[in-house]
Amino acid sequence: MDLYEAIYNRRTVRDFQDKIVPDEVLTRIINAGLQAPTHDHLRNWEFVILKDKEDKERALQFIRLGVEPTLEILKKVLVEGTPQQKMYALAMPRQYSMLMNASHVILPFFKSNSGVLKPSCVSSLNPISSIWCVIENIFLAATAEGLACSMRIPVGIEGEKVADIVGAPDNYLLPCYIGLGYPAENKSEAEQIQYKAEDKMHIGKW
Ligand SMILES: Cc1cc2nc3c(=O)[nH]c(=O)nc-3n(C[C@H](O)[C@H](O)[C@H](O)COP(=O)(O)O)c2cc1C
Repeated sequence: MDLYEAIYNRRTVRDFQDKIVPDEVLTRIINAGLQAPTHDHLRNWEFVILKDKEDKERALQFIRLGVEPTLEILKKVLVEGTPQQKMYALAMPRQYSMLMNASHVILPFFKSNSGVLKPSCVSSLNPISSIWCVIENIFLAATAEGLACSMRIPVGIEGEKVADIVGAPDNYLLPCYIGLGYPAENKSEAEQIQYKAEDKMHIGKW
């Protein structure tokens, strides 16, 4: 698949087939992540891979608790809401299943510093900016492999709890969970809001 095809085909997928991604494909995708640009030239990134049901259940336990009370409200929004509200209504009830039912859960950790969570300027955020380059490479490589990814951002201290459970060192942070798998034939799709480059470009001056 050519690069532009991967870029245009990439979508967040939250429904997966019950089919395992082969190890060599997973390794290619992680290697693609490792090619991302890095703020300090060090690529201080580590990936915890969860494949077994018990390992996934242990790491995802905090998500399961948070979703269910809101389901009825979300159903209403799914019919009457704006595209953005509909996306939330589609996504929220799937926060657990989109990871649990994925072939693999990838936990991409980055080495943090004191500035990341208390930034004084944009460059304090460089470690987190770099890991998001890694994450996008993973998404595009997965798409090029005929696979797809779900993603969730840990809320509150959820990320710290997950890091602790999987044994990550204290100075490594979890920016998101990634579910990797074969998209389901009948996967739910959020309506996309399309923009044209011409409408977003400001040549010479905004
Ligand atoms: C920073 C960031 C945070 C996101 N957080 C979540 C999340 O917590 N749960 C989720 O299901 N999707 C999450 N998403 C995925 C978005 O919902 C998705 O990218 C958006 O709706 C556009 O759809 P697309 O990825 O299919 O183009 C996140 C995306 C980004 C870039």
